[in-house]
Amino acid sequence: MDEEFYHEPVLLNETLDFLINSSTGSPKTSADSQKRVYVDCTLGGGGYTKKILDSTEDSVVIAVDRDVHAITHCGNVLSNYKERIIFMQRNFGDIANIIKDAGFEAVDGIVMDLGLSTYQLSHEAGFSYQQDTALDMRADKDQKLTAGDVMNTYDEKELAGIFYTFGEMRYSRQIAKEIVQQRKIKSFNTTFDVVELLKSKVPPRFLNSDLSRLFQAIRIEVNNELENLEQVLAEGTGVLNEGGRIVAVSYHSLEDRIVKNAFRSDEKLLVITKKPVEATEEEIEVNVRSRSAKLRAAEKNSKGKGSKNKYMK
Ligand SMILES: C[S@@+](CC[C@H](N)C(=O)[O-])C[C@H]1O[C@@H](n2cnc3c(N)ncnc32)[C@H](O)[C@@H]1O
Repeated sequence: MDEEFYHEPVLLNETLDFLINSSTGSPKTSADSQKRVYVDCTLGGGGYTKKILDSTEDSVVIAVDRDVHAITHCGNVLSNYKERIIFMQRNFGDIANIIKDAGFEAVDGIVMDLGLSTYQLSHEAGFSYQQDTALDMRADKDQKLTAGDVMNTYDEKELAGIFYTFGEMRYSRQIAKEIVQQRKIKSFNTTFDVVELLKSKVPPRFLNSDLSRLFQAIRIEVNNELENLEQVLAEGTGVLNEGGRIVAVSYHSLEDRIVKNAFRSDEKLLVITKKPVEATEEEIEVNVRSRSAKLRAAEKNSKGKGSKNKYMK
């Protein structure tokens, strides 16, 4: 597995610029008295972690992913850095305990690149509507709830709520009703069972975008994605050193809204990105996944919002 393509990092240089520059405007170096410690909350293929380690002389990265494949893969491809990485197969929502368990009280930077890796989309069951696989969608296979459970056991109201809230779908109620009708005859077992259902309900020109929304909604529910994000943002500031940065890259409006509001409402954070940073045309051309990416960054400053924010124009 270590040799195959895993994931092309999005907004890599921009993310690192925001993450490793302290409030003094320059990255700390090994001349500083203490090692810098960063948390990569979403290790994936290790693109961000490697870049942090290459860009800072003496830093340590706590590398977190709840998907065991990401941890195994990076254990192999980043083996040259093993003295400087602490791997944690955990949910980033538990960030305060993760940092404590790694042996630290606080860290100098926290980064998260949300959603799925390309590997998960193409190799793990349930995530892609373009392949016929079991309705799984669990990033952490130790967890119990699967996409199949959602489709086959949630009641009509619950399903409609998920499709509306997490998928921002137009026909959420009709789709939920249809699911409940159809599963009386045959349960939903594979991704193509879901595709067939939508094909029968949605005009062809909307099919792909509605499939994306439906799959996104189920995935968010199965992996409790929005609550985990709220939790890491709520706990993150408490375990960040003064002047430390928190950088989040999100891929849809629900996530971006949570990040924006959490940064704005946190008294200890100064927002560095007035508007979210987006990928350049050049990056989008070579990495289509970057098209929807939005990067936001903030810095811990205990003087709080009252102090003048020198980053914003
Ligand atoms: C977009 S990929 C990260 C790619 C990575 N930046 C790179 O350069 O390869 C997102 C990763 O975050 C992980 N992830 C998503 N939610 C998580 C959570 N709550 N806790 C831990 N890992 C999570 C996924 O399993 C996936 O591997």
